[in-house]
Amino acid sequence: MKTLFKSVLALLTISLMVVSCVQNSNDSSGALSSSKAEKVYVAPGEHDDFYAFVSGGFSGQLAVYGLPSGRLFKVIPVFSVDAEKAYGFNEETKPMLNTSHGFIPWDDAHHPDISQTNGVVDGRYVYINGNNTPRIAKIDLTTFETTEIIEIPNSAGNHSSSYVTENTEYVVAGTRFGVPVPQRDMPIAEYKGNFKGALSFLKVDPEDGGMDIKFQILMPGFDYDKAHPGRGDSHGWFFFTTYNSEEAHSLLEVNASQNDKDFIAAVNWKKIEEYVNNGGGKKMPANYAHNVYDEHTHTATSTMKKEVLTVDPTEVPGAIYFLPTPKSPHGCDVSPTGEYIVGSGKLSADVTVHSFTKMMDAINNKKFDGDAYGIPILNYEDILAGSVKSGGLGPLHTEFDGKGNAYTTFFISSEVVKWKLGTWEVIDRKPTYYSVGHLMIPGGNSGQPFGKYVLAMNKITKDRYLPTGPEVTQSAQLYDITGEKMELLLDFPTVGEPHYAAGIPADIVAKNSRKIFRLEENQHPYAAKTEAEAKVVRKGNEVHINMTMIRSHFAPDNIEGIQVGDKVYFHVTNLEQDYDVPHGISMIGANTSELLIMPGQTETFVWEPKQVGVWPFYCTDFCSALHQEMQGYVRVSPKGSSVPISFTLDDDAVDAE
Ligand code: CUA
Repeated sequence: MKTLFKSVLALLTISLMVVSCVQNSNDSSGALSSSKAEKVYVAPGEHDDFYAFVSGGFSGQLAVYGLPSGRLFKVIPVFSVDAEKAYGFNEETKPMLNTSHGFIPWDDAHHPDISQTNGVVDGRYVYINGNNTPRIAKIDLTTFETTEIIEIPNSAGNHSSSYVTENTEYVVAGTRFGVPVPQRDMPIAEYKGNFKGALSFLKVDPEDGGMDIKFQILMPGFDYDKAHPGRGDSHGWFFFTTYNSEEAHSLLEVNASQNDKDFIAAVNWKKIEEYVNNGGGKKMPANYAHNVYDEHTHTATSTMKKEVLTVDPTEVPGAIYFLPTPKSPHGCDVSPTGEYIVGSGKLSADVTVHSFTKMMDAINNKKFDGDAYGIPILNYEDILAGSVKSGGLGPLHTEFDGKGNAYTTFFISSEVVKWKLGTWEVIDRKPTYYSVGHLMIPGGNSGQPFGKYVLAMNKITKDRYLPTGPEVTQSAQLYDITGEKMELLLDFPTVGEPHYAAGIPADIVAKNSRKIFRLEENQHPYAAKTEAEAKVVRKGNEVHINMTMIRSHFAPDNIEGIQVGDKVYFHVTNLEQDYDVPHGISMIGANTSELLIMPGQTETFVWEPKQVGVWPFYCTDFCSALHQEMQGYVRVSPKGSSVPISFTLDDDAVDAE
């Protein structure tokens, strides 16, 4: 009996051990990596659950990844030229990069934001800001191409941008630097009180997502750092963090850290919209580019705009207030219900949370604590909802999971901290590797987050990957946030600086993705829609070649009568009407990039031959078994030669018009 009891006890012990072992493998902090691998594993041929649009920071581009796998699908050129896709090299897209400073082929792309309908990401467009030469771009998510860029006048270091309101009524662009408005020659020492900070509200066309500057609020010359729209109850308001309310103009690391508190500017944009709709505001001369890509002509046009409507905030009483916020606040994030406005003082240990309800009470009861340049300052204690005593250092950005939790990054202590809205208690903290900036939850910047993952975007990786010389990759890290505790699942390297990202469930976007451009809808002025329409035309020293490409030849493929000193335009139409059959074309000595042309599309590059000879061109995209045969020749004769223009179509030589 005793032995039986002993063996039962032994069995129990063993089964307990098995249970605890099984529990261990499910434990979020467990060392067994296989369950983590399963959570990010997307089997060959399967699709990811989410799109993540991760900005490239100083690369000027926007990269498209799948989550949870971290696989890179596409780099969308936005503000920087891209030799891979000919963006900024072909004649059709060059106007996209036009500005009041001329052709500017690079920028610093920071904050993508997906368009919303009723506070939910709708997957139609991504808007993103260029910081350096202030611009906002629109990317169409049917084609995943940049289709519009508008320059922002009176702005500099366009950082508190580009965020959309809950029905994409507006895209907002705030200046980082205070600057003279209008720009003029004046002593820098006269900054204080004379420079301005422009907050621009770009009206969005509900039909095509197109942008136009409706008004610019000329705020005091503080630095406007980050912004976030109100939503739900606070819809109609926009919030901007400021630093340098000291208005220092040199050695800002010391001189802009004097005040214990800077501000979050709360802007009632509906009130200002009403004011300007009733004739308010002042038209000011300006000069800024508005570049629009037409899907039918496959061509962008650039228009210089000459006027902008400005608003003096003191002329619209009750529209703008300052919310005191400690320690040079950076991140400015609004909770999904619109009640909480989170300001992260980057030199602080705590996260400050303001209450929209309390803010409105303070405004209605006129409880002000002075003013700055005529803009009322609310009393800090009156509007404070609470503060998160996190124990971290250097809070930057916050996103929300839609289940009552917030996640804040801490740059200095290099961690993501999960805390509860309303009680402000810290629930969990996990290290990042290393020095995290932004984080992203799909839809985490809207009224309806999809709180399954958080993506942390890190500035430093050091030892996380194989070394690649002094320059090492930056990186994103994916955490599972479905449980009480966060679980680090995956590191993946990124393109450029992963500054910020926007995420969305894949099914919202994937179903609308374009497969081809219809040839019959192609309105490009130099399109050849059949091989019979292909031709070569000389106009003085310009030669225009209307060329076609289809598996596996060009038409024409032999061209004679070109001369040194000519400007030869290759207008090339891809006749394919099948999904995923682009062709490329490259020409020896062409001072541009190859072209990569989608089915039904026409693109143009210019070749200026410098040397006499017979020069080849070829297809650059491996399109068929006979891809290597897809090639041709151009004969270049001396300047003034009597060799006439001629070309071959279908093996017949044609004399040109
Ligand atoms: Cu066409 Cu390769």
